[in-house]
Amino acid sequence: MINDDPIRTWQSNLNNQHPKLIIEHALKQFTRIGISFSGAEDVVLIHMACQLDLPKSTPIQVFSLDTGRLHPETYQFINHIRERYPIELKILFPATEAVQTFVEEKGLFSFYQDGHQQCCNIRKVEPLKRHLSQLDAWITGQRRDQSPDTRTEVPVVQRDAAFSSTEKTLTKFNPLANWSSKQVWEYIRAFEIPYNPLHSRGFVSIGCEPCTRPILPTQHEREGRWWWEQSTQKECGLHSANLIKS
Ligand code: ADX
Ligand code: SF4
Repeated sequence: MINDDPIRTWQSNLNNQHPKLIIEHALKQFTRIGISFSGAEDVVLIHMACQLDLPKSTPIQVFSLDTGRLHPETYQFINHIRERYPIELKILFPATEAVQTFVEEKGLFSFYQDGHQQCCNIRKVEPLKRHLSQLDAWITGQRRDQSPDTRTEVPVVQRDAAFSSTEKTLTKFNPLANWSSKQVWEYIRAFEIPYNPLHSRGFVSIGCEPCTRPILPTQHEREGRWWWEQSTQKECGLHSANLIKS
């Protein structure tokens, strides 16, 4: 177990560093650590990690939450990345019984009526929680510019206030926190990193198929997610730490 002090030190040391150096620090500091990959532009995290000079004995562990509702293009892209990079990719599934009961009770599109929280809890948050219980740290592709109402204060490293407990501190690295979408895309183009083909069809932020839509150039990327809900509610629980006042 570590206390909050090293995290504060890392915050000041890493805040102005390049994302690749932040990833390097994270992967050298922790062995029980995973990169969370949604199948969107967060692919840059995997590319950067694979460029690092790390001991061969420590595989780069990546995980994706398969909600059962992703676009076919996203499944294909995730599999392409699994084959293209030397990573250990775990695909995480929701508990069968929980999905079964939920769908029997409410059908497949209840989120349009009563909000996305229940479905996201079953399909994303619970499997994530299960996986994070085996880790000491995780790496995400969160950026401050992704959501004006919930992510403007995301730090490059933090104690995960949502998934830590009194017994265990879970450290969360957000290496892209200070980067803009433009910087991410410049990096993808400069290094010819593969990307989800949905990005070429107006999709900017990509999540589950029924809860994601393309946006117009004048819209903020978050308007492509859960568009029937208030912008302050647009966290599905993976990053509910953003809604917790510390
Ligand atoms: S979400 O909470 O609103 O769905 P978002 O799509 O902005 O998250 O992605 C932010 C980061 O959360 C991603 O870069 C990734 O690290 C993590 N993430 C989101 N969705 C998934 C997923 N299905 N599997 C793994 N990680 C994910
Ligand atoms: Fe369900 Fe939509 Fe959440 Fe996916 S994003 S888990 S489909 S509510």
